[in-house]
Amino acid sequence: MIQTKMTLFSARQLTKDVWELAFTGDTEAFTRPGQFVNIELPGRFLRRPISVASYTDEGMLLLVRLAGAGTADLVSAPAGTAFDTLTGLGNGFDPEERGEHPVLIGGGIGIAPLYGLARKLVGMGLTPHVALGFRSADDVFYVEEFAALGCRVFVATEDGSLGTKGFVTDCVRNYLPEADYAFVCGPTPMLKAVDGLEQLKGGQFSFEARMACGFGACVGCTIPTANGPRRVCKDGPVFRKEEIVW
Ligand code: FES
Repeated sequence: MIQTKMTLFSARQLTKDVWELAFTGDTEAFTRPGQFVNIELPGRFLRRPISVASYTDEGMLLLVRLAGAGTADLVSAPAGTAFDTLTGLGNGFDPEERGEHPVLIGGGIGIAPLYGLARKLVGMGLTPHVALGFRSADDVFYVEEFAALGCRVFVATEDGSLGTKGFVTDCVRNYLPEADYAFVCGPTPMLKAVDGLEQLKGGQFSFEARMACGFGACVGCTIPTANGPRRVCKDGPVFRKEEIVW
């Protein structure tokens, strides 16, 4: 982890409440896709933890869902604004452990870290399948970005307005019967449903939690696991299937 200034370079609105923000700055502390940053917002007591969608040597890309005044300030900041940021937080996904037929499964804003993972896997010569879940067609984002990497993308919407009507688990059952390993990020009910897919022999699940420090000091984000209590921010946010206790 390092504390550094990340400078907003550009912002692009993707849906009514999701934005893509590009920052320039020091990304040396990032080691894996699926890590996150904790951004200080002027006038706000607590930093905001946000998953990193991808990073290069020059900067990072965040996908941000509007969730109150803090994130509204962030997405409306003018280009050139510098934010005090803790970078390289969390363990991230291990792309070396992936089974025979991995699938990337994301729900809503949980899609963000899977994009960086997909880029990483493509760089390793793999083209993973991706299953993305949304409430409706109006909420869909980043399908083209995953497809541009060469990934085959399956979409589920709860109201059936785009793709499969239902949930990402329906996509996996119907179209990806060979998938035996999942990289997953999304709301907890979705994680639990994916964990219940009988075809999966293993997987890595990225959890969300309310956070304060973001680097393991306050113990405020602790969850039970098969190996005892673990901090989502420091020991996670990614936990292996066999570690998870629902
Ligand atoms: Fe402080 Fe996780 S947020 S220990």
